[in-house]
Amino acid sequence: MSKLESFIRRMTAQRDCLNFAAQKIEAMSGLVLELGLGNGRTYDHLKQIMPDRDIYVFERDVNPFASCSPPENRIFMGDITETLIQAERNLREKAILAHYDIATTNGEKSRRIAVQVSPLLHNLMFPGSLVVSSVEMPFYQWTVMPLPTGVKPGRYFIYRVDTFL
Ligand SMILES: C[S@@+](CC[C@H](N)C(=O)[O-])C[C@H]1O[C@@H](n2cnc3c(N)ncnc32)[C@H](O)[C@@H]1O
Repeated sequence: MSKLESFIRRMTAQRDCLNFAAQKIEAMSGLVLELGLGNGRTYDHLKQIMPDRDIYVFERDVNPFASCSPPENRIFMGDITETLIQAERNLREKAILAHYDIATTNGEKSRRIAVQVSPLLHNLMFPGSLVVSSVEMPFYQWTVMPLPTGVKPGRYFIYRVDTFL
């Protein structure tokens, strides 16, 4: 498979998983988290498919396309390992969907960050909510969910956040 084909498949999986998860949480009330704003592509998509949801963004280097800029009072700027802890004060158990897209070019490093971040993210998630992720997040209180048709296992990940044990 060429690099172009691989990129297209990854982006298609990302979009399909976000659409799938947004449908699953449609009946729940709560807010949405975007972890890793980048240039704002997936943030823009989340806004389009869930126009009535409050979306909070976590990013250390905020520099999106001008049309994809979140409102200032919805941005947690800084390293995610610190801002997720700060967010607990107001957002504890308030999120019904999170999109985690803090992937670096170093796969091992990305996995290490994901393991560190999972318990912090967990504290912001409502029981029964969903985490859609570009990186595997093997957290003991999350259940791996089936992917939408056409998305190859391992290309993207969806987890259900289970009730506190
Ligand atoms: C793959 S990009 C996100 C792409 C974005 N979802 C989009 O569709 O445009 C990953 C982003 O994570 C951010 N990031 C990486 N490590 C971070 C950290 N420790 N804390 C906060 N943000 C981080 C980077 O600055 C980068 O913008």
